[in-house]
Amino acid sequence: MSDSNPQGGERWGSRIGVILAVAGSAVGLGNFLRFPGQAAQNGGGAFMLPYFISLLILGIPLCWAEWTMGRYGGTKGFNSAPGIFQTLWRNPLSKYLGSIALLIPLVIYMYYVVIEAWCLGYAFNYLTGDLMLGADSEKYSDFFGRFVGTGADGALLTGESNLILFLLITFVLNFILIYRGISKGIESFCKIAMPIMVICAVCVLARVLTLGGEKVVAGLGAMWNPNAEYLMQPKTWLAASGQIFFSLSVGFGVVINYASYLKKNDDIALSGLTASSMNEFFEVCLGGLITLPAAFIFLGAAAKEQGTFGLGFNALPNVFAVMPGGRFFGFLWFFMLFTAAITSSLSMLQPVIAFFEEGLGLKRHASATLLGLVSAMGSGFVVYFSKGMVALDTFDFWVGTMFIFILAMIQAVIYGWVFGIQKGYEELHRGANIRVPWFVQIMLKYVTPAYLLAIFIGICITQGP
Ligand code: PHE
Repeated sequence: MSDSNPQGGERWGSRIGVILAVAGSAVGLGNFLRFPGQAAQNGGGAFMLPYFISLLILGIPLCWAEWTMGRYGGTKGFNSAPGIFQTLWRNPLSKYLGSIALLIPLVIYMYYVVIEAWCLGYAFNYLTGDLMLGADSEKYSDFFGRFVGTGADGALLTGESNLILFLLITFVLNFILIYRGISKGIESFCKIAMPIMVICAVCVLARVLTLGGEKVVAGLGAMWNPNAEYLMQPKTWLAASGQIFFSLSVGFGVVINYASYLKKNDDIALSGLTASSMNEFFEVCLGGLITLPAAFIFLGAAAKEQGTFGLGFNALPNVFAVMPGGRFFGFLWFFMLFTAAITSSLSMLQPVIAFFEEGLGLKRHASATLLGLVSAMGSGFVVYFSKGMVALDTFDFWVGTMFIFILAMIQAVIYGWVFGIQKGYEELHRGANIRVPWFVQIMLKYVTPAYLLAIFIGICITQGP
């Protein structure tokens, strides 16, 4: 594969590169913080049943559909969702529907990058030793409050917290990588970052699992013992499908964009499956075995009540405080989270950059500058108004849940009913190294939209922002 195509657009440099970039997008805070929190609050092991059903009915099929539509659009010279949707469906409406696939990643970026900066800040504070505060939950809540500027004293505004500095570093790093482009920026970074993440996560996992026999077993039980009652609740099914979308980065317009930088005969069937499988390894085998069991060792049953942020920024620091080598493992953990988050946030920016270049005709540096300004304003807004995290929850509900279901539905319908499953099947297999069973196409046409609709109605009936 080469770096450029006849139309002058960008290309991935290698097959392993694109797989690691897509896996990098998928593996992120969702795997290590969101997944354990969701599983613990929705029936432990029982959560895994709707989780795997959603993976099979929604996650993997839609992933293949996105890879297929993305590469198809790319070969027609389009990289942004509005352009790609238009090549698939010649209707004036399609480009407006495609713009949802720009809006979702951009808005998610605005708050995701803030949490990314928290991770960098926490990694730094482990290096300096400032986060070794002993086993005392209140101290960590206090630290967190002051750090993110949610404390009663308004730390952020008085300059007590270095959050702005960490945000700046995070922003600049993201923009340097995006500016360098698909192959030299995103791909090169993911090729280094993914192995580093595995090494850091495996070290922390080994440390957690050797913390002491019975407690570890009890911690694993807290995460994995099934509580079947939860299976009867629609909320569990909603949470499971939401987690699949979030975790695989499916339904965001991200995979479509990444796949558009492939060449006509590059494999997508096996690459798509490999990237998704890597994500599941990180989520179930690493995220699922580290976060909650570790928190349980320290907090006991109360660990289950900790939300996503509580687990990551309070429970785990408590565990690092009491484990031998805690300062080092605390650093490894937050550094790993930070790296995982960057490879994800890059994928939220790239679709918008592609649109600025393609739709507005801007050059790369102008696109990156414009996006930098827009997203910095958005993130500033999030930091300023997210005191008490209320804004984050509301954002997460509307953008992270409602809009994703809508976009996933649009994609399933365009693929299954407009583009057509016969054509999709042929396209998926061009250059493929494996054969995907035909029933996956039937599922994409009928079962996936029906399942999505059922869940969407479920959300409308049972939840509110
Ligand atoms: N999949 C990422 C995670 O698990 C989050 C993400 C969402 C990435 C949307 C890209 C687009 O953290």
